[in-house]
Amino acid sequence: MGIAVIPLDPADQTAVDEAYRIGAAVEAADLPDFPPYCRRRFEGMVRHPMPGIAAHWALARLDGEPAGWLRLFLPQLDNTENASAELRVHPEYRRRGVGRALHEHGLRVLREAGRKRVVASVADNLPGAPERESPGPAFAAAVGAHPALADVRSRLDVTARDQRRLDALLADARAAAAGYRIVRWRQHTPEEYVADVAYLEGRMVTDAPTGDLQWEQEQIDADRIRGTERALDARGVRHYSVGAVHEASGRLVAWSMLSLAANTTWHAWQQSTIVDPEHRGHRLGRLAKIENLEHVLAYEPGLRAIDTYNAADNAHMIAINEQLGFRPVDGSTDWQLTL
Ligand code: ACO
Repeated sequence: MGIAVIPLDPADQTAVDEAYRIGAAVEAADLPDFPPYCRRRFEGMVRHPMPGIAAHWALARLDGEPAGWLRLFLPQLDNTENASAELRVHPEYRRRGVGRALHEHGLRVLREAGRKRVVASVADNLPGAPERESPGPAFAAAVGAHPALADVRSRLDVTARDQRRLDALLADARAAAAGYRIVRWRQHTPEEYVADVAYLEGRMVTDAPTGDLQWEQEQIDADRIRGTERALDARGVRHYSVGAVHEASGRLVAWSMLSLAANTTWHAWQQSTIVDPEHRGHRLGRLAKIENLEHVLAYEPGLRAIDTYNAADNAHMIAINEQLGFRPVDGSTDWQLTL
C-alpha cells in the first residue's frame, strides 16, 4: 500500500484521535521532560485556529497505519508570503519516507497559496550537552532548509527556588520602578488594557532577536487579542498575567504571561514578556516576571517547573531568567526554507 497523505478533516474524530496519538508518541520519545501531551489543546489547535491564521493539516498513513502528520499555519493579516510548519512522524515509522512525503504535500499546498518561505522549530541538543537522538535537524537539512534562529529552552525548578534571593530581586525591581503600578489578571485581559496588550504583542516578534528569520511585525489589535483568548479557552489553557501600568499616562507598558495546559498542574510555559521600548531600564521585565511567579503560585500550588524559550542571543532576557533561577536544558532552532 505504501505511503498515502490526505488532508485531515477537523470534523473527522477518528483521524483527529490518530493524529493526537502520533503527537503524544513523538513528544514522549523526543522530549521526555515535557508535560504530558494535552488532548484538549491538540483538538483545540485542530478545530479553533488562532485568529488571522489559516490552518492546513494532513495525515500520513504507511501501509494503512497512521504514521505522521503535518500542520501548516498560513498567516492572513500579515506575513502573507510566509508560513510555519510542524511535522511529526511516529517513532516506529521513521526513516521510511513518511516525513519526506508529508513535506512534499506541504510544499504543494504552500506553493498553491503563493507562500515564499516556511519556518519550523526543531528541537536539538545544547552545544556540549550529552548527545541525544535528534533527527529533526538532519531532516530539515535534508529538505534544503537553513538554520535561521537558535533558541535555548531554560527551566526553573520551582521547588528549588531561592525565595530570599527572589524577594531581594523583587524589592530592588520595585525600587527602580517608581511611577509604575502592578496589575494582575487571569484568563481574559481587562478591557482597559486590551489595546495596550495588542500593541505590546504586535511588537513581540520583531523586538526580540530574530536572527536570519524573515518574519514581519504582526498586525495585532484588540479584536485579535480577544480571538486569541477564545482560542486559548477552547484549548482549556489556564493563563496568568502581570502588567505594569505607567501611572502618569495610565497605559499598560509591560506584560508577562504564564500558561498551563488543561491536563497538568505541575508545569507551566513562560509566554511573552515584553516592555514598551520607551519604558525600558526600570526593571519592569524582572518585576513582571517575579510578580507573576507569585501570582501563579497563589492559584497553582502544585507547580514544579516552568519552561521558557529565548533566542540564544537575547542576553537581556536570559540574564533576567538566570537571576530567577532558570537553567538551560536544550536547544531549538528555527529552520527556514525558501520555496
Ligand atoms: N538521522 C539522519 N538523517 C535523518 C534522520 C536521522 N535520524 N531522520 C531523517 N533524516 C533525513 C535523511 O536524509 C532522510 O533521507 P534518507 O532516509 O533517504 O537518508 C530524510 O531526512 C527523509 O527522511 P524520512 O524517512 O522522510 O523522515 P521521517 O519519516 O523519519 O521523519 C522527522 C523525520 C519528521 C524529523 C521525524 O524524525 C520526527 O517526527 N521527529 C520529531 C519531530 C521533529 O523534529 N520535527 C521537525 C522536522 S522539520 C519540520 O518540522 C519541517
